[in-house]
Amino acid sequence: MREGKGPSIQRLLDFGAALLQSLKSEMQKKFYITTAIYYVNGAPHLGHAYEKIITDIIARARRSLGQSVFFLTGLDEHGQKVQQAASEKGISPQAYCDEMAIQWQTFVARLNISNDDYVRTTQPRHKEVVKALLTKLHDQGDIYQAPYRGWYSARHETFLTDKDLRPDGTWDPAYGEVTELVEENWYFKMGQHQEWLVQYLESHPEFVQPDYRRNEVLGFLRAETLEDLCISRPSSRLSWGIPIPFAPDYVNYVWFDALVNYLSVPASMGDPATALVTGATATGASIWPPDLHVIGKDILKFHAVYWPIMLQAAGLPLPRQVLAHGFWQKDGQKMSKSTGNVVDPIAIIDEWGVDAFRYYVVRELDIGPDGNWTDEGFRQRYAAELANGLGNLVNRSLSMLRKYRAGRIGMVSQELADDAAEAVRGVEVCLRENRLQAGLAAVWTLVNRANLYVEQTKPFSLAKDPTQAKRLDEVLYNLAESCRVLAVVLWPFIPDTAQRIYAQLQVCGEPSQWRNSAWGGLEVGHETGEPIPLFPRKDLPPKA
Ligand code: ME8
Ligand code: MG
Repeated sequence: MREGKGPSIQRLLDFGAALLQSLKSEMQKKFYITTAIYYVNGAPHLGHAYEKIITDIIARARRSLGQSVFFLTGLDEHGQKVQQAASEKGISPQAYCDEMAIQWQTFVARLNISNDDYVRTTQPRHKEVVKALLTKLHDQGDIYQAPYRGWYSARHETFLTDKDLRPDGTWDPAYGEVTELVEENWYFKMGQHQEWLVQYLESHPEFVQPDYRRNEVLGFLRAETLEDLCISRPSSRLSWGIPIPFAPDYVNYVWFDALVNYLSVPASMGDPATALVTGATATGASIWPPDLHVIGKDILKFHAVYWPIMLQAAGLPLPRQVLAHGFWQKDGQKMSKSTGNVVDPIAIIDEWGVDAFRYYVVRELDIGPDGNWTDEGFRQRYAAELANGLGNLVNRSLSMLRKYRAGRIGMVSQELADDAAEAVRGVEVCLRENRLQAGLAAVWTLVNRANLYVEQTKPFSLAKDPTQAKRLDEVLYNLAESCRVLAVVLWPFIPDTAQRIYAQLQVCGEPSQWRNSAWGGLEVGHETGEPIPLFPRKDLPPKA
């Protein structure tokens, strides 16, 4: 028996070591969050801005709460439309992409997005990983060649089926010109994973959120047979793409290329979890798998069906969640450049400030349903919630402190401590669940409570009565400290404003750490600064 024990103890020890190792890497793993990558030939619009902003808020919230985060956004640069747009301009596709990338990157900066990296699918680091993945899948026998005949929409870069026909037997003009094509192509064996994916979605209800989107995916998978995916395009027809390593006359289908962006960045950084594809014995940062893919509802199938199957086939751990947001309209109509029915985020930001824009889109629309932008709604929220709500609170708290006490904190008080703590807890719960609209509503419970407190305690009257000096100190403390706490909980949502509140309070450091939301940060003797309006009131133009 003695001899037998050695190996089994050894196995136990190995098991323990492996467990410890995986726990350790899980603890070190960054919270990996992504947006979709945007068609480089498009113009940045409200929908794109919204997606970047909600992703940014989630990323900032996780950082504030102490997690290490890797936030990736970027550009989708291959395909027919890019090739066409470039040739119309008489420049190379790469030159065209480089030109367009500037406006997209400026857009990210104007929205105050805190991404850690920016991926472009024309970067060598991306192309290499796409090739490595294709090679692996081909070597495994997961990719085969077969003829394809079908109706092709160049505008949508996709073959259409009878299901895409309108009841009168015609194609929707949105597809542009539709032509019949027959060609040899390469296919990825996607269909064989259908049962597995259904079971995966059933046993992982968190994988696709909100629930009604998960049900859509499951409904589709249960009703229809999943076909194999055509992943190639002959380079005679489309040259602007990533060459297929084992079939040099073909380039990779844009969606297969685009989805891999999420993998190519961690892989190129040497993430050990991606070594199965890169082949390298990697020692880099621990990022994979993605914790959250934030996307719009129109590209759910690619992220909740194609993508998990691609990864499953490659033997890689799957993303933990795909979060699908809704679509924005303007004044109840689809946004369209041709009709001029658009919201230009940059114009709004120029006029109202980035935080007014960030605030409105998140306060107005929960992640999931479709939203509707109206200029009137924007102005109303700006006036009521930002100017008269938050802005007024900070302004009068600091003004009174300045006027009655030369800006100095005279005493510490707990009067609003419980209200603040309750609001902070409420916001934190929402942030941990990615419920951003509810999170902002929870912040405003404290804004409103503190504004009400001013009405109730009437510091302007207390100031006239010398016997009320201590009471006035108390009230002023509760107001200033509420403003400080608000800066911390607002930071993920409207970071500039949060910083400005900290600056006006003359508090050192940044409001970017959640632990600083604990009541009692301002100390006796601390001197606060000059109030500067955060959200200047704007006179509404006369009604037409
Ligand atoms: O689909 N409202 O890129 P894209 C809200 N390159 N969101 C909207 C929207 C609207 N009106 N219009 C678009 C692509 N979006 C691919 C993605 S990912 C590997 C490849 C969202 O520029 C849309 O749902 O057409 C998507 O999530 C993102 O903007 C980029 O759209
Ligand atoms: Mg689109």
